[in-house]
Amino acid sequence: MNNMQAAQHKAAQLPRFPQRHLEHIPGDYGWPLFGHTFEFLRDFQGLVNRGAAQYGPVFKGNIFFQRGLTMLGPEANEFVLRDQAHVFSSRAAWNPMLDKLFTNGLMMRDFADHKLHRRLLQQAFKKPALSSYMTSMNPHIARGLSRWPTGKEFSFFDAIKSLLLDVGAETFLGLEMGPEAKQVNEAFVAEVDASLAVLRVEIPGTTWYRGMKGRRFLEKFMTDLIPQKRASNGTDFFSELCRAVDEEGELTLSDQDIMNHMIFLLFAAHDTTTSTLSSIIHALARNPEWQDRLREEFRALGKDHLDYDDLDKLESTTWVFKEALRMYPPLPTIPRRAVEDTEFNGIRIPKNTLVSIVPLHTHYMEEFWSNPTRFDPERFSPARAEDKKHFYQWVPFGGGHHKCIGLNFAELQSKIFLFHFLRDYQVSVRPGYEAPYQLVPLAMPKDGLPVTIRKL
Ligand code: HEM
Repeated sequence: MNNMQAAQHKAAQLPRFPQRHLEHIPGDYGWPLFGHTFEFLRDFQGLVNRGAAQYGPVFKGNIFFQRGLTMLGPEANEFVLRDQAHVFSSRAAWNPMLDKLFTNGLMMRDFADHKLHRRLLQQAFKKPALSSYMTSMNPHIARGLSRWPTGKEFSFFDAIKSLLLDVGAETFLGLEMGPEAKQVNEAFVAEVDASLAVLRVEIPGTTWYRGMKGRRFLEKFMTDLIPQKRASNGTDFFSELCRAVDEEGELTLSDQDIMNHMIFLLFAAHDTTTSTLSSIIHALARNPEWQDRLREEFRALGKDHLDYDDLDKLESTTWVFKEALRMYPPLPTIPRRAVEDTEFNGIRIPKNTLVSIVPLHTHYMEEFWSNPTRFDPERFSPARAEDKKHFYQWVPFGGGHHKCIGLNFAELQSKIFLFHFLRDYQVSVRPGYEAPYQLVPLAMPKDGLPVTIRKL
């Protein structure tokens, strides 16, 4: 058995509940029973900052009835995410929240098994595949945008969520918009909503019931389509995955694996990109000089659509994308569970401890970022290169073994949207407006981000 297989075996043996004996670690467990749960939901950033000020970069706490450690800073990010010793399980940390709805998705796989599946999935994220997704995304996004209302306020968050769902049905699944795509989107939304449900029993009328019904619908829908997709030479993501083989040309994914991966990928891609584009538009509406700058960059290409080779030419757009992800990483915290005793900077982390790193906290550390609360995309320019002090100081996509496999996809989709949007529209918010943000479980504007757009 090699190291990875041994780690996988240990992860599978972990008890259902995480370690509770953390007496030797600074911190407190908050209120009886509920611990810090309410503060976590109300003011996550404040909770972490207070913990750091009182106890230092590693401290214990209690959220949603689970005791665990918060580990702060780029060094901790590297230790946990890079996981050179193969001691941190992603599956054991995410499964309690996601296993019923997103069974055996890539993030819920560990070590040797994860490596194998990740290699196969990687095929659908290579340059030729990404270029072909762009071909269908360009006209679809432009068409969708032309239906947005001008001259009156609307919720950007709701509008982009719905547009990305429609684009996703085509890019991921190869579906034409129509009743079938609508049904798939509704099942998917029910499933995503259920991932936040507290009551997890299938009682008709509950969010959980609707979510599990959505899951079963998608399972059948995907499974029925697989033979057709395997035989097709379609350029959608689903077809790519059905044809994926490893480098030796031997291994392929089973029907069940494809179905599970597809359902998880839709989930991993959708709300994260919705959140990112909302943060970008929030920043651009409040900083119109950056809208002008990006618009000029797009117009300088002299084209009516974006191709893969244009992406790297969009320097200012890349900085804006990175800066929005720095200020509002969609996943502000990332959990793992230790499969055996380990040690970080002299602190013993017992087997089965739930640990969480906090990208959001690292993204505001004054040691790494000048004036971190300010929207300042040029901090990513080669001249300033503020992001280059530590490899793990900017981690909206995580890092190491489980680093987001869709990061290029997210960037190209965001750029295509911004290209069509800013060339044709000016976006504004009410004077002095600043969105009230919900940070956990996913960063999003609580009020839906009311904006007004004007056709140029
Ligand atoms: C800006 C948008 C996105 C953000 C901020 C984001 C963020 C993340 C983060 C932080 C992780 C690591 C989680 C962990 O280590 O536990 C992750 C993993 C993942 N993401 Fe993304 N993501 C985005 C878009 C996407 C898209 C568009 C896709 C698919 C097309 C995708 C697919 C995945 C998958 C499959 C994983 C699991 C990777 C693994 O376990 O090896 N993500 N993402």
